[in-house]
Amino acid sequence: MGNLFWKGKQESSKYIEQLKTKNPVFLQLIESISPPMSEKNNGDWLNLLIWGDAKFVLHSLLDDFKGKIKLIYIDPPFGTGGEFNYKIQIGDGDASKNSSKWIRKAAYNDSWEHGLDSYLSFIYERLLLMKDLLSPEGSIYIHLDWHVGHYIKVMMDEIYGENNFRNEIIWSYPAASAQTKRFFVRSFDVILFYTKSDVYTFNDDKNIYMEYSDRVKNALSKDSNGTFYFRGGSHDGKKLSQKVYIENEGVFPRDVWMDIPYIRANTLEYQGFSTQKPERLLRRIILASTRENDLIADFFCGSGTTIAVAEKLNRRWIGCDMSKNAIHIMKKRIMDVKNSNDLQDWKKKYNILPNEFKILSLESNSENYWFPVEFISKKVRSHLSDQENRTPECKIILNKNKNAVTLKIIDYIIPYNHCISPEIEENITTFSDWIDYWSIDFDYSVQCKFRTMWASYRTPKRRELKLISDPYIYEQPGPHELMIKVVDICGIETNKKLTINIS
Ligand SMILES: C[S@@+](CC[C@H](N)C(=O)[O-])C[C@H]1O[C@@H](n2cnc3c(N)ncnc32)[C@H](O)[C@@H]1O
Repeated sequence: MGNLFWKGKQESSKYIEQLKTKNPVFLQLIESISPPMSEKNNGDWLNLLIWGDAKFVLHSLLDDFKGKIKLIYIDPPFGTGGEFNYKIQIGDGDASKNSSKWIRKAAYNDSWEHGLDSYLSFIYERLLLMKDLLSPEGSIYIHLDWHVGHYIKVMMDEIYGENNFRNEIIWSYPAASAQTKRFFVRSFDVILFYTKSDVYTFNDDKNIYMEYSDRVKNALSKDSNGTFYFRGGSHDGKKLSQKVYIENEGVFPRDVWMDIPYIRANTLEYQGFSTQKPERLLRRIILASTRENDLIADFFCGSGTTIAVAEKLNRRWIGCDMSKNAIHIMKKRIMDVKNSNDLQDWKKKYNILPNEFKILSLESNSENYWFPVEFISKKVRSHLSDQENRTPECKIILNKNKNAVTLKIIDYIIPYNHCISPEIEENITTFSDWIDYWSIDFDYSVQCKFRTMWASYRTPKRRELKLISDPYIYEQPGPHELMIKVVDICGIETNKKLTINIS
């Protein structure tokens, strides 16, 4: 078998061997999303959303999760050389009717300093670490496209073994428009499917089946119950005329998937994230390769499609992304999972609150920026100095009635809002337009970190923000600390502490 070589491969392999001998970076708890948000019980397990570079996160998980993850799906950067973004809406209104109320923000950059060589080292190091976490009966799916799919196929044969290659899945979607007429329009992604060994989970679940093609359906008849049948066949040279029924669910999936459309802005699952993948795609993969309660991980989680589907299919999950904004989008997506599509009956809402989950971060991560530069008007960017590194301010009032407490947010002030791009400023009509999310821990303690006990937030489909919290009733008299977290539309987080005495 031939192997793939590139500049930096040997160094990467040595580096990972050495990394494994070192102490990993500590994963610190930032926040837990606790009941009453949650109504299911996952035993002692809490799902994990981790902010950090996949390489260090994978290393940090090795101690506790070696050989324990049943399914890894990743949709990493494809080595495209491009920059990807997500859309932010401003205010309460329906932005689909007013295009000026959308702004775009960079989600991640997919360009590589030393081109393909550095991309290959990047993905190689992470794929080596993922193998250690995968269970002996586990499966790994890697979502790519024409840019690097063929290189990663050879790399995976080397790391996971060519005998453990199961499929090269073609996910084909209609291309929106032909951007060039100098070659054929590219309209499919590739998903490489490997297992760790020859013994692995693969379920013949009717929910993963593909619909019959129109050609097959046209050749079949339907009885009064809607069940397909054909007449025919022959026995002993005689033609048979009885009905031969075939299963209603469709056909066991082939490796070319043409039945899953790309995400559209008018769908419930749309998160405004440019590389977001459809829930139907992840549903097929998860139902095929895991059983209920199995552990699933996605280390390039983006808008959180994998973990949202895992949550709804009663699987345990670990999600990771190096972008703080992606973590914020995913947090809201899981908190709001009740309002998303039911995976069994797409026309219905899922209608179940999520399991409790924790947000962790690599200890080395810090919020060492004040304002994402892309929000600042080019004219004033160069005048901003480090001394101006101040945080925004939010004003909150506390209403206390006996031992019940509600909070009202009455203002949110961004220092230097004169610096903001005109496209944003023009669309801000009231202070609350700045706010994307706010949440309260009514009984904050440094040891337990922030526990989200109440939250109000905007989603692409639900724009209104509550400015007054629900009442919280204190059982214990005495002093209590409240922590309030506000995240604005630029992704900037402000935390404010209040102390209250309950008599
Ligand atoms: C193609 S997107 C994933 C989209 C996702 N499948 C979805 O449905 O929304 C790739 C993600 O990988 C993240 N990413 C890039 N480099 C990373 C790294 N070294 N560690 C962790 N995440 C990374 C990006 O921030 C981005 O959110």
